[in-house]
Amino acid sequence: MNQVSVNLKTGSKAELRMVEDHLLRQPRNKDVAAKLMRIHEALATREFPDLEYKNYLSTKHKAGVRDYLEVGVRWGDALMLAAPGCKAVGVDPAFDIKHPLECEPTLYGMLSDDFFFEHSERYAQAFDLIFLDGLHEARQTAKDIYHALSVLKPGGEILSHDVLPISLAVATPTQQTRFWTGNVWQAAYAFAHKDFPLKWEFIEAHPSGLFRLYDIDPDCRPSRQLIMERVAEASAMKFNDAGELLDFLRSL
Ligand SMILES: C[S@@+](CC[C@H](N)C(=O)[O-])C[C@H]1O[C@@H](n2cnc3c(N)ncnc32)[C@H](O)[C@@H]1O
Repeated sequence: MNQVSVNLKTGSKAELRMVEDHLLRQPRNKDVAAKLMRIHEALATREFPDLEYKNYLSTKHKAGVRDYLEVGVRWGDALMLAAPGCKAVGVDPAFDIKHPLECEPTLYGMLSDDFFFEHSERYAQAFDLIFLDGLHEARQTAKDIYHALSVLKPGGEILSHDVLPISLAVATPTQQTRFWTGNVWQAAYAFAHKDFPLKWEFIEAHPSGLFRLYDIDPDCRPSRQLIMERVAEASAMKFNDAGELLDFLRSL
């Protein structure tokens, strides 16, 4: 491989993207995958220098979340932020909690679709805060947001992770790179419509942004068909690079 290098701490976004381009054209082996990961981490630090998503979640929990739902728990890095006294429900078919939890956890080892199908009635309008971080695929995330609206307390909020991809290469519907947001941004686009009875904003949180839905009237959900049509509309959009995609999302 020809030497193309950049200082990860001081290199500009343009320089980092140039090296990323170069690496993406190499045959993928462990070394290339690891270098790509470092470039993507550096890009994420450049794009979101001020706020870490876990700090954002932690501030919410400290302000007093009583009933919390997290879809996609993995090792519990985010679930561990739920405070003592918080009733926290975690959903993940393959969770493997590696941290002590201070909250009162109930864990469901299942896919989000199964959880919402089996337990939506039990948890109707139950949660103050819902964090969606399961499968990083647009249609699945759109379904998760749609179902989450039915278990959200009036006045509650939903945060969906990975909606501001730092590179088009990490925004593929199936995982091609270690740092992977998937095409979740398309689900955020689907809900970010000025005619919907929803308030929303993008949060510039490291490493890949959050989409926040808040002040929601739980009786006024956009139709599922309309949401899926908007996901399809987003998936047909073409962007030359991540800068264009991010500008588009920030302009919504
Ligand atoms: C990025 S990790 C979650 C990280 C965690 N929220 C955190 O902040 O540390 C994604 C997790 O989603 C889970 N997952 C994948 N598909 C899912 C689905 N359809 N429903 C629920 N969880 C899913 C995976 O098993 C994985 O553990």
